[in-house]
Amino acid sequence: MEEDQPAVDGSQISQWGAVHAVDTRWFVRFFISDCSLNIRFYDLIALSLVGLHSQLRQELAQNFWDEMGRGIRENEHNNLFKRILEYVGVEYDPGSFIESLGSQGLAGYNLFLRFGLHRKHFLHSIGNMAVSEMMDPANYAKLVRGCKRVGLTDETAQAYYFEHISVDVAHGDGWIANVMLPMAHQFPNHTCDIIVGAEVRLNTSFDYYENLYSQLTHPA
Ligand SMILES: [Fe+2]
Repeated sequence: MEEDQPAVDGSQISQWGAVHAVDTRWFVRFFISDCSLNIRFYDLIALSLVGLHSQLRQELAQNFWDEMGRGIRENEHNNLFKRILEYVGVEYDPGSFIESLGSQGLAGYNLFLRFGLHRKHFLHSIGNMAVSEMMDPANYAKLVRGCKRVGLTDETAQAYYFEHISVDVAHGDGWIANVMLPMAHQFPNHTCDIIVGAEVRLNTSFDYYENLYSQLTHPA
């Protein structure tokens, strides 16, 4: 990669959006891609709850409750995301799930499912989920900065991202203190599994964002 080009991970693509994206089309394309994982994230949290160690239930249940809009239907995160799509004039199309994610995104989604469906991957699932919660706030802060710069200024319409900027900071801290550290102490010979779960999430995210960055910066 040339020196003046940004490296491509979730952080860098958001940085590029914050500083360089010149019109709303870039963001609309980003939202469509970002939709597929986020609008079904409820399923992945629900899967991670099954068979959970009792000491971890509070933290995961809090994540789940936030995902459910803390009891207010219109604030459920899937509805918040549909609000963004509506704001930019895009109709949600559940049938385009595979096309929207592409092979790179599907690889990441498959990992969520594999780790959630098989209890033997319980510690992988923790690392995978935790790093996802930790990546989002900083990336989304840059994203909304870019949105504002190109005229997407309605914060109510973009509540999904603003919510995750604030809420996921707490989730990230909670995952470290209430999930990762207790599990590392309880399974000292298997802490590597938590790291591997986080690492594979970072790797699939890198591939996903690299592909998305290429699409956004070199549209067909
Ligand atoms: Fe969410």
